[in-house]
Amino acid sequence: MAEITPMDKIVSLCKRRGFVFPSSEIYGGLGAIYDYGHYGTLLKNNIRDAWWKAMTQMRDDVVGLDSAIFMHPKTWAASGHIDSFEDPQVDCKKCKSRFRADHILEEFGIGADKMPVDSINKELDKLRKEKKLKCANCGSTELTEARRFSLMVKSNLGSPTDELKEENVVYLRPETCGGIYLEYKNTLDSTRMKLPFGIAQVGKAFRNEIVARQFIFRTREFEQMEMQYFLHPDQMKEKYAMWKDLRWQWYFEYGMSENDIRWYKHKKLAHYASEAYDVEFNFKSLGGFKEIEGIHARGNWDLSQHSKFSGVDLAYFDEKTKEKFIPHIMETSAGLNRLFLMFIDQAYTEETIGENETRMVLKLDRRLAPIKIAIFPLLKNKPELVAKAREVYDSVKSKFMCEFDDNGNIGKRYRRQDEIGTPYCVTIDFETLEKGAVTVRDRDTMKQESVKVEDLNEYFKEKLVK
Ligand code: GAP
Repeated sequence: MAEITPMDKIVSLCKRRGFVFPSSEIYGGLGAIYDYGHYGTLLKNNIRDAWWKAMTQMRDDVVGLDSAIFMHPKTWAASGHIDSFEDPQVDCKKCKSRFRADHILEEFGIGADKMPVDSINKELDKLRKEKKLKCANCGSTELTEARRFSLMVKSNLGSPTDELKEENVVYLRPETCGGIYLEYKNTLDSTRMKLPFGIAQVGKAFRNEIVARQFIFRTREFEQMEMQYFLHPDQMKEKYAMWKDLRWQWYFEYGMSENDIRWYKHKKLAHYASEAYDVEFNFKSLGGFKEIEGIHARGNWDLSQHSKFSGVDLAYFDEKTKEKFIPHIMETSAGLNRLFLMFIDQAYTEETIGENETRMVLKLDRRLAPIKIAIFPLLKNKPELVAKAREVYDSVKSKFMCEFDDNGNIGKRYRRQDEIGTPYCVTIDFETLEKGAVTVRDRDTMKQESVKVEDLNEYFKEKLVK
């Protein structure tokens, strides 16, 4: 029997407990597209809110934006995406599987990041001669040469006649920062912001990924959390270090340790960039460190290109120094779905309890947990217990995301909430009716304590609100 991998366990948990489902499953699914169920939506929203709070609420120098997915086609010509946002693709002639050629080379220890296709083909030829080049799916040695494959997703927005003309093709944005660059001037003109300042946004992005077989790690529709920080070039060194540190601390605040994350310094930089680091997380489910966020010093490339292509002057005039210049940009860009996988991967715990029972528990940070408190009447068939449990539920649900559960025995209900990652379970029993006290059980320690009903809101405020 095939071994059950850490990824199998996570995929199974996500489906079983309603975190993530393959999209359009009743029609056989749609490659690398996923839907988020009740608990998945709550967890994803909580991660997004934690990021948003750190990046906007806690910062006087960052404002928010929610720009449209569709943008003027010239946006992507200016950014270089139409010409060069592509990956090298290799096909198996026998089973028709498709692979990223740079990923094949990386498996042989050959760094192929941003390597031109000609050079990739030379490296593939060497492996072919050594009889090392094989299809990872069927083992055939019949693999095609590498070819460029655009990652841009086209749409037919507009009238049918427009569709025929190349200049009228509209793309689904491949990254959210494009909208930030286009709204830089409106934001500057409509807020009291002065350089240095940032614009943050969270939203969907679309990429026609060639191989997307790592669950929600690499998908064709995903969400990014991006912040573009506009500054004078002289401020880049200091602000880059500041944001690098702030983003690093954010991961620690939400439970990561030195063993979980590390920095990856880019060896090859885009011609306009002066510095680029990625935060990588050590995924158990993916067998090692993988990128979750990029922090890049992008020079003034973006605004210069959009100035050039739009004909609108995007230069900044500094009232104090009387200097006019195109702002430079420092970017932080994290994938919301990747962080979702990261938090589940890190929180997924199997513990042996008692003689031979295994408990599966998601030890999520309390602020991220989809459900904060589950409320149980001890017995479903005792109306007085159910009524009291409903009363307790009603008194806390307006302040915390709660769930009422009267299904199955208490042990089963605890296991279910452990798998969802619920930090606290509250049981209403006969003592509640007699003495007005409930039993609160802690997810991680499994310890139970008695708390007066009238003290519950204050008790949870202390535990859950930071
Ligand atoms: N604006 C810069 C930018 O988009 P990127 O490295 O291509 O840079 C940033 O993407 C982040 O977006 C990545 O670190 C990753 O977390 C996430 N991301 C990129 N492609 C993704 C995909 N196909 N599926 C899920 N997340 C993705």
